[in-house]
Amino acid sequence: MSGFRAYRIRDDGRFGAGRLERMSRAELDHGEVVVRVAYAGVNYKDALTARGRARMARKFPLVGGTDLAGVVESSEDRRFAPGDEILIHSFGLGSHHDGGFAEIGRFPADWIFALPGGLSLLEAAALGVAGHSVGVAIELVQLNGIGPERGEVLVNGATGGVGSIAVDVLSKLGYHVTALTGKPGMTEYLHALGAAEVLSRDEVKLEGRPLENERWAAAFDSVGGAQLEWLLRTARRDAVIASIGNASGNTFDGNVLPFILRGVRLVGVNVNNPVETKLRIWRRLATDWKPRHFDCFVRRIPLAALPQAFDALLAARVCGRQVVDFSLDREADGL
Ligand SMILES: NC(=O)c1ccc[n+]([C@@H]2O[C@H](COP(=O)([O-])OP(=O)(O)OC[C@H]3O[C@@H](n4cnc5c(N)ncnc54)[C@H](OP(=O)(O)O)[C@@H]3O)[C@@H](O)[C@H]2O)c1
Repeated sequence: MSGFRAYRIRDDGRFGAGRLERMSRAELDHGEVVVRVAYAGVNYKDALTARGRARMARKFPLVGGTDLAGVVESSEDRRFAPGDEILIHSFGLGSHHDGGFAEIGRFPADWIFALPGGLSLLEAAALGVAGHSVGVAIELVQLNGIGPERGEVLVNGATGGVGSIAVDVLSKLGYHVTALTGKPGMTEYLHALGAAEVLSRDEVKLEGRPLENERWAAAFDSVGGAQLEWLLRTARRDAVIASIGNASGNTFDGNVLPFILRGVRLVGVNVNNPVETKLRIWRRLATDWKPRHFDCFVRRIPLAALPQAFDALLAARVCGRQVVDFSLDREADGL
C-alpha cells in the first residue's frame, strides 16, 4: 500500500469532518524537520476538531492531533539530526498546521523540543498538552503561595486527561486532593492515582448563596461553566482557582464577593506560552512533577480506533489519556 496512515479533517462546508486515509510525503506540511511519529495524545480539542463541533480547523485538509512524540527522520535544521527523540505540542498543531495523527509529519524546527531526560516517548505523548497545562497550573498555584499545608485542593473533571494527571502529580507533591467526577464507579481509579477523597458530581448543589462554606485552598478546573462559579463561591481565603478547560461550557455567572471578601484568585492557564516557559515546565514534568501512575491513566490505541476515541471523549466516557500508538496499526497489519 502506498503512502502512510493519517487521520485528516476535510472541508465539509462547515467546520470540517475527519476520516482515516492515506497520504503521501508530497502532501507533508511546511517545516524543516521530518518526524516519524511514535505516539500522539488524543485531546478533547482534537475530538471537537475531528467532529466539526467548533471552528478549530484553519486549513483543509488538516491532520488532526495537538501533541506528539517521535523520532527525527531528516532535518534541514542543524539543531536536529536523524534519530533524535523529540516532542511537539501547541503552536497551532492540529488546527493551523498538520498535527500528530499521521505516521509521518513535517514541522518547523522552532516548535520542536528534544525529549527531556527522564521521559520516554510514550510518557511525553501521554502528558502532551494536558500534562503541560497541569504543569502551568501548578506553577501558578505555587507562585501564589499555595503549598500542601494550606489545605484541600479540588480537581474537577478528575477522571479526564487533564484531571487524572493533576490528581497524580498534586498527590505526589503532598497535596490533599479531592477529586470531583461525574462518573459513578471511578472511586477506586481516582484513589489509585492518589486522591484522598472522591466527590460525586451528583452530591454537588451548584446553586446557592454568593459565598458558601470555605473549602478549597486551590482548584484545578477543566470543566468550566456553572461548576467554575461554584468553585469560586466555595473557595477559601486567598485560594487560587486555576481555569484550565471548558468541557461543560464557556460561560459562567458569578458575583464579586469571593474576590473582594476572600481574596480568591482566578488564574487562567494557557499552554501557548513562550518557549522558555515550555522548557521549564517540561523539565519539571520529567523530574519532580512526573506522574507516578502512567500505567493506570494511559491507554494506547491504534490510529484506526480514533473515531471511537473521539465519540467517547465527547460523551465524557474516557478515563485518563488515550494515546495513539502507531505500532499497534502495524501489528494489526501483521507487519
Ligand atoms: N488551558 C489549556 O491550555 C488546556 C490544555 C489541555 C486541555 N484543555 C482543556 O481542558 C479540558 C479537558 O481536557 P481533557 O483533554 O482532559 O478532556 P477529557 O479527557 O475529555 O476530560 C474532560 C473531563 O471533564 C469532565 N466533564 C464534566 N462535564 C463534562 C461535559 N459536559 N462534557 C465532557 N466532559 C465533562 C469529565 O470528567 P469527570 O466525569 O471525571 O467529571 C471529562 O472526562 C478541555 O476543555 C480542554 O480543551 C486546556
